[in-house]
Amino acid sequence: MVTVSRSRICTMDWISEKTSDRDMDTVRQIRFIWKPFVFIASLVPFALVIGDLFDVTGSLGANPVEEIQDRFGNWGLRYILIALSVTPLRAISHWNWLVRFRRMLGLFAFFYILMHFLTWLVLDQGILLSAITEDIVKRPFITIGFSAFLILTALAATSTAGIRRRLGRRWQKLHNWVYVAAILGVWHYWWQVKLDASDPAIYAVILVALLAYRLWRRRSQARIRAGA
Ligand code: HEM
Repeated sequence: MVTVSRSRICTMDWISEKTSDRDMDTVRQIRFIWKPFVFIASLVPFALVIGDLFDVTGSLGANPVEEIQDRFGNWGLRYILIALSVTPLRAISHWNWLVRFRRMLGLFAFFYILMHFLTWLVLDQGILLSAITEDIVKRPFITIGFSAFLILTALAATSTAGIRRRLGRRWQKLHNWVYVAAILGVWHYWWQVKLDASDPAIYAVILVALLAYRLWRRRSQARIRAGA
């Protein structure tokens, strides 16, 4: 019969209590310090656009509508890629807490693409239905961008914990569409570049690396499952 001494039980209790205390501290720090910090930092590009619009922080240059649209489009794409980097970074670093930022980062991607879309809708097209449909149908790079926007809208709308729980395994399948949105987003950018494609090429390289990691992880998980 295995006998566990009272002192050992006490020590184990003390250790697990200590560990859960530390975990609680981390959760609290993330919730009350790091999440508000990332939230405020993520609003800086937006605040700078507003500041530049009123010539407070800088200026928007000769073509303000194009500048606003370009900045929002770039930040949207950056946030899509940042949100997609969470899983590989977590796996490499074992910083499991990173996952707590993923939803916020994804929602910021949607926020900036929504601003990009609204700039086009209101300032570029003047909310003119005929001009809007013509642009979406006749300019392929807009058709691609619009498709990506529709995907991101569906993902943002289903990002709550309640919907996640209700959809179960189907939720992950639906949210894998973020990769399609990212591919369409990079393609949309590349298509409308006239001369120097180095910026969309950088986004494309990062996206290919993220996709390669995802494929590799899926294969190795399938191999582990087959061996089990
Ligand atoms: C996931 C969705 C999207 C992403 C990631 C995205 C991203 C971008 C990026 C990075 C640029 C180039 C910025 C630059 O030149 O520095 C751009 C340009 C542009 N996008 Fe999007 N976009 C998306 C959706 C849309 C949608 C829905 C529309 C409108 C229906 C749209 C309309 C435009 C237009 C008109 C330009 C050219 C602006 C110019 O004249 O410079 N985009 N987009």
